[in-house]
Amino acid sequence: MAMHRSEIRERVGMMKPHVVVGLSGASGAAIGLRIVEILGDLGAEIHLVVSRAAERTLLEEVGPDAMSHLRACAHYWHGVDDIGASIASGSFPTRGMIVAPCSMRTLAAIAHCQADNLLVRAADVHLKERRPLVLVARETPLHLGHLRAMAATTEAGAIVMPPAPAFYLKPASVAEIVDQIARRAIDLLRLFEPVASQWRGPAEQRDANPFLVASTPSFDSAKVDAIKRVIPQERKE
Ligand SMILES: Cc1cc2nc3c(=O)[nH]c(=O)nc-3n(C[C@H](O)[C@H](O)[C@H](O)COP(=O)(O)O)c2cc1C
Repeated sequence: MAMHRSEIRERVGMMKPHVVVGLSGASGAAIGLRIVEILGDLGAEIHLVVSRAAERTLLEEVGPDAMSHLRACAHYWHGVDDIGASIASGSFPTRGMIVAPCSMRTLAAIAHCQADNLLVRAADVHLKERRPLVLVARETPLHLGHLRAMAATTEAGAIVMPPAPAFYLKPASVAEIVDQIARRAIDLLRLFEPVASQWRGPAEQRDANPFLVASTPSFDSAKVDAIKRVIPQERKE
C-alpha cells in the first residue's frame, strides 16, 4: 500500500542522519575520536574512514587501544582503499562529513579533486552534492601552498576549521580543549542543536561559572562594565 506523504516525512525524520567522519594523519587524532563519540551520543549513524597515516597518529598520540575504540564507536567502518564503498557515491544520502584531523596532504588532495582514496573521494562527493564538509585542518606554521589549498576548498564549499583552542572559555585541561573543538566541528554541520560551550558575554560568563572570576584576579565588575560599554552584547561565534 502506498504511503501517505506525512507518513513518509515521519519515517525520514526518524532515520538516523548518516554522517561521515574521516581521520587523516595530522596531529590531533584525539579530536577525531571525540567527534565520533559525541556523534554517537547524538544518534548519528557514523561512517568512518581512517587513512594509514591516521592509524599511526592514533597509536602515537592516543595509544594502542585507540583504533579498537574508534571501530567500536562507528556503525560502519570503510577501508581507505575501498573506493566502491557506499560513501563513495553521491547516491548514498549522507547529511555531512567531518575530516578531523585533516592533514595538509589530504587537504591538498581534496582541493585538487585527487580522489584516489575513499577519504578524499567521500569529501569530493560532499562538495559535488553541496553537502556540509568540515575540514579540521591542522598544521603550523602554514606556507602559501597550505593557504591556497584552504582557499580552494573554501571556494568549493567546505568549511576550514583549524583546531584552535577556545582560550576565552579558559579550558582546564587538554581533554576540555579537544572536547570543545570536537563540538564546534559538529555544530558546523548544523544537524543537531548546538553542543559546544558558548561565550555569553563577560557578566553572564561570570554568573555561569564563578570559578572563572575566582581564578582570574583581573576580572572585576568595573572592568566588565567597561567592556560592556565598548563591545555589543551578542553571542560570540
Ligand atoms: C605524529 C605525527 C604527526 C603529524 N602531524 C601532522 C600535522 O599536524 N599536519 C600534517 O599535515 N601532517 C602531519 N603529519 C604527517 C602526515 O601524517 C603525512 O603527511 C601523511 O602522508 C598524511 O597522509 P594522509 O593525508 O593520507 O593521512 C604527522 C605525522 C606524524 C607521524
